[in-house]
Amino acid sequence: MFEKLTDRFGRTHDYLRISVTDKCNLRCVYCMPEEGMEFEPDSRLMGDDEIVRIVETAAGMGIRKLRITGGEPLVRKDLDRLIARLSAIEGIEDIALTTNGIFLAPRAERLREAGLTRVNISLDSMREDRFRLITRGGDVHKVLEAIEASVRVGFSPIKLNVVLMKGLNDDEIADFLKLTLERGLTVRFIEYMPIGHEDDNWRERYLPLSAVLETCASLGWTYEAVGSVYGNGPSENYRIAGALGTFGLIHPVSDHFCASCNRLRLTADGQIKPCLYWNYESDVRSVSRDPEAIERVFRAALDLKPENHEMAQALAKTERSHMPTVRRMSQIGG
Ligand code: GTP
Ligand code: 5AD
Ligand code: SF4
Repeated sequence: MFEKLTDRFGRTHDYLRISVTDKCNLRCVYCMPEEGMEFEPDSRLMGDDEIVRIVETAAGMGIRKLRITGGEPLVRKDLDRLIARLSAIEGIEDIALTTNGIFLAPRAERLREAGLTRVNISLDSMREDRFRLITRGGDVHKVLEAIEASVRVGFSPIKLNVVLMKGLNDDEIADFLKLTLERGLTVRFIEYMPIGHEDDNWRERYLPLSAVLETCASLGWTYEAVGSVYGNGPSENYRIAGALGTFGLIHPVSDHFCASCNRLRLTADGQIKPCLYWNYESDVRSVSRDPEAIERVFRAALDLKPENHEMAQALAKTERSHMPTVRRMSQIGG
């Protein structure tokens, strides 16, 4: 019997988010600066063999669920080959992908065949011009095609991630809720987090998710909590009466969910990051040929994991939205 990945606060970790690249084909306003970012040279990114060896050892410590993230993971060449190798690892039960969807439609079938079970697709607006503005150039039609392709190849559940921003897309809450009435999709509203931002637009754009429930009430829609949307993350899920789909709320700022955290992160350059909102990292790439050393690094990372990220408290105390995260969201993978 293996020793589980349990931290100092009794939380057991069975979910690993793996960033396979820091590169992205978009520059969403809440994620990247307008001028873009300098990406890591390929030599700094882990190769498939290194990722596979680390996951083999992690599976031996109870990791059961994987999520592939980026940057944009589909920027990485031959992702389906890596996914096929990961899905063959004993103990791995679920492999999901978080993607901006732009490159997904033509690759959905191969990814499904490789063993990918489900996708979370970012869609912050359903309006063409506005989507282009938020993503700084993205074509919403490609994302809508990706959703249809995902339905066709049988990814399930299919989740749409909507980062809510005051004055940018909050007038689409009703449209996104309406989508759940008509389609068997899960729309997740996410609070805008000040990750790696200096003093940019976070304070003026942040909106607590109570706005979503208020919209439901103002439309006279009743909803109830559902526990049935398959997932490993922090979303609270609801269904409007009579709806085919569901909606979810992810509220790390107004009400953090750290007590139930079950996840670790592996960055594209091979660091174990025990908390999204903390700078502690432990280098696992350099020992990726030695399973015992990999295990030691995982456990050392767990020992550094804080009880909670204290983002909301810290924000209340400081004038700026300046936070202690060094990496930006695209370098962590969410
Ligand atoms: P499933 O529930 O398994 O479908 O996945 P998920 O919701 O964990 O994955 P996804 O990549 O779609 O993440 C949705 C949002 O939740 C993103 O904005 C993430 O940054 C955020 N999120 C996921 N885990 C954490 C966490 O541990 N802390 C914080 N603050 N945010 C998180
Ligand atoms: N706050 C909240 N969510 C974010 N994402 C990226 N940056 C932020 C942020 N600052 C979301 C993306 C994607 C997921 C991985 O994280 O939209 O859906
Ligand atoms: Fe790229 Fe995702 Fe960041 Fe948008 S949120 S710039 S799609 S990594």
